[in-house]
Order: sequence, then C-alpha cells, then structure tokens
Amino acid sequence: MGKQVKLLGISASPRKGSNSMILLTKALDSAAKVSGVVTEVLDLHKKSYKHCIGCSACNRRREKCILKGDDFEEFFEKWVSADGIIISTPIYHMSVPSNLKAALDRLGNSVISMYPEEPRRLIKVGGAITQGMNRFGGQEFAMQFIINSFLLMDCIPVAGDMPISYIGAGGSTYGDPKAGAISSNENAILSAENIGQRVAELSKIIVTGKEHLRDELPKEYYLDIQKHFISKEE
Ligand SMILES: Cc1cc2nc3c(=O)[nH]c(=O)nc-3n(C[C@H](O)[C@H](O)[C@H](O)COP(=O)(O)O)c2cc1C
Repeated sequence: MGKQVKLLGISASPRKGSNSMILLTKALDSAAKVSGVVTEVLDLHKKSYKHCIGCSACNRRREKCILKGDDFEEFFEKWVSADGIIISTPIYHMSVPSNLKAALDRLGNSVISMYPEEPRRLIKVGGAITQGMNRFGGQEFAMQFIINSFLLMDCIPVAGDMPISYIGAGGSTYGDPKAGAISSNENAILSAENIGQRVAELSKIIVTGKEHLRDELPKEYYLDIQKHFISKEE
C-alpha cells in the first residue's frame, strides 16, 4: 500500500451552494476514484482574508504573515499540507475574487519567507477550474492567474485531456446568474472531472516517486511540513 495522497479543493466563491463548489465537487469525486487519494474541501464562502499590507514582517522575521483575526491560518495550513490542490473559482471582473487573491498574496510571501532551504522544492500538483456568467468572460485569464500562482509556488499545473479541458476546466452559465446554473453545462462538468482525475494521478505519481527516490533526491524534497510551517509558533 503506497503513501496516502492528500488533495485539497478550494472553492473561491463567496456564495453558498456556488457554481464553483458544484464543479469542485465533481472534480474531487473524480479524483477520489484514484486509489490512495483522499480529498478535503476548503469552501471560501463566509471565510475572510485581510489583504497584504506590504509590511514585509514575514520576510524580515522569516515568519508566517503577522496579520491576525481572519481565516488565513486555516488557509495556510491546509495549503501547505496538501500534495495536490484544485482551485475552483468564479470569474470576478475577468479575474478571481479579491478574497482568493488576498489569501494567495499572503500565502506566497509567508511560504517564501519561512522556507528553510534554498532552493524550494514544494512540487505540489495544481489544477484550475474557472467559470463565469458569460462566454469569453475572463475564464482563461483567471485560469492563467491560478496557473501562475502554482508556478510561483513551485507547484506543477496539470492540463486536462484535450478537447475536454485545455489548460484547466470550467465554462459559462450562459447569462444565468444563479448559484447552481452551471449544473446544466455538461461540458463544464466533464472538464472538471477530467482535471480532478489528472491532478489526482499526477499527485500520486509524484508522492510515490519521491518515496522511491528518497536516497537519491536532494533533502529539500523531504521537508517536514508540520515542523517547519505548522507547529512553528506552538
Ligand atoms: C462582482 C462580480 C463580478 C463578475 N464578473 C464577471 C466577469 O467578469 N465575467 C463573467 O463571465 N462573469 C462575471 N460574474 C458572474 C459570475 O462569475 C458567475 O455568476 C459565476 O457563475 C458565479 O459563480 P459562483 O456561483 O461560484 O459564485 C461576476 C459576478 C460578480 C458578483
């Protein structure tokens, strides 16, 4: 029996029963069919993240972001603990909602500041799901933003299987603003399932490969996440 593979699905919509959550659930159900994969959901509905104030305290002190009083700690811990991450987001203003952007800004600077070794070797696997109300409403821009975020964080973004998914999954509700409207878009659901499967498979390949190569790869690949990122302040 191989090592367990942990996938985190982040639904970035602020609303309940969101289209983002519907597609994320499809992706994670599909991912869970890959043996050894366990999934967890982080629903950003009702979560709030203060925005980075550029104080650089994380960088100076080599610590996690010092802002308190919101849900960032949970976001940070779940993100660093996962082997694979799927971000499912609605399109806001042809991009991602500000809450997700705020969390990622602080995550990035926190992880980079706290990382004990150079070079960084996080190598998580990432997948992007984006959907909006309109065709050409910004889905590909948001996908690209999420992919850039993964790259910046030393994660490996997966493409789906063409033509179902190109560089990510998702689609449009074709003008319907309601939560739940994406359920009638079969292609969006198929593409989300496809991204879920690809993230799960590649995460498993990486987790298993790292286990087998323990004596050969540099030690940076085997960082004790709990020790360095989570229990640091306890
Ligand atoms: C503030 C705001 C900005 C939006 N901007 C866009 C946009 O630029 N392009 C688009 O296609 N849809 C846009 N939408 C529509 C949502 O992306 C769409 O309704 C989506 O299905 C919502 O997903 P959710 O249920 O996961 O929140 C916007 C909605 C809001 C509330």
